[in-house]
Amino acid sequence: MPAKQIIMCPPEYYDIEYSINPWMDTNNKVKKKEAQKQYNNLKEAFRKAGAEINELTPVKNLPDMVFACNAGYAESDIFVKANFKAQQRKREAEAAEKYFKQKNYRVFSLPENIIFEGEGDIIRTQSKYFLGWGQRSDLMAKDYIEDITGKEFIPLELIDPYFYHLDTCFGPINDELVVINEKAFSEDSLTKIYDRFQHVISANETDNSVLACNLVVLGKNVFIGKGTSEELKNEIRKFSYNVIENDMSEFLKGGGSVKCLSLEIF
Ligand code: ARG
Repeated sequence: MPAKQIIMCPPEYYDIEYSINPWMDTNNKVKKKEAQKQYNNLKEAFRKAGAEINELTPVKNLPDMVFACNAGYAESDIFVKANFKAQQRKREAEAAEKYFKQKNYRVFSLPENIIFEGEGDIIRTQSKYFLGWGQRSDLMAKDYIEDITGKEFIPLELIDPYFYHLDTCFGPINDELVVINEKAFSEDSLTKIYDRFQHVISANETDNSVLACNLVVLGKNVFIGKGTSEELKNEIRKFSYNVIENDMSEFLKGGGSVKCLSLEIF
């Protein structure tokens, strides 16, 4: 199997310069050295697990660009560029577009008025595709993404501003196993999740306070933020996965963890 490709963006300009989600407090500045260290540790851990890591060049005045997974959705030779909701993040999509064009991807974009925040709101397993909407991405993005990819997406409605992207509350580990924050979903969407996964692990408050659902899976390894409860880690281990923890405290200040830093190419 070819190595899994992940695009990351070094936290060179990362800081809390504005607040566009409830985790962000402009008085709670980032410790730059610590952020760089946490980022490097995660990158090295991914590499050790066999992933191929490529990096976007960080752009000055784009302090959230470190959260690379929001820049779009990438699958084989297709890149669907994000339309960010916050003015402050819009230029991140252009930087990513440049990168993917250079790598000869076919780049697609949605009409400007339709908000779409990439892999923050698109999460997929081998055979199931989900689109989170209600906080950032628009439900209307679904038809466009389906046309571009030829896949059918299951829409999941998000109702809690703390869990504003699908990847903050929904972490599938494989086609049958998922970790979720139940409270982040409308009743109807929660039913959809239970209908589609044989095993649903419910994250507790401790887990949600460190965005434990914001995980990345590489083979039999699950990468997750430090501070995740022993219960959750043990649940995951029961399905024969290794749990690899990384301190993500500096990135929690921006409202993100492991997955937010990782634009996975499917
Ligand atoms: N500060 C960023 C924002 O609010 C954090 C994005 C985190 N990314 C994610 N995929 N959840 O947009």
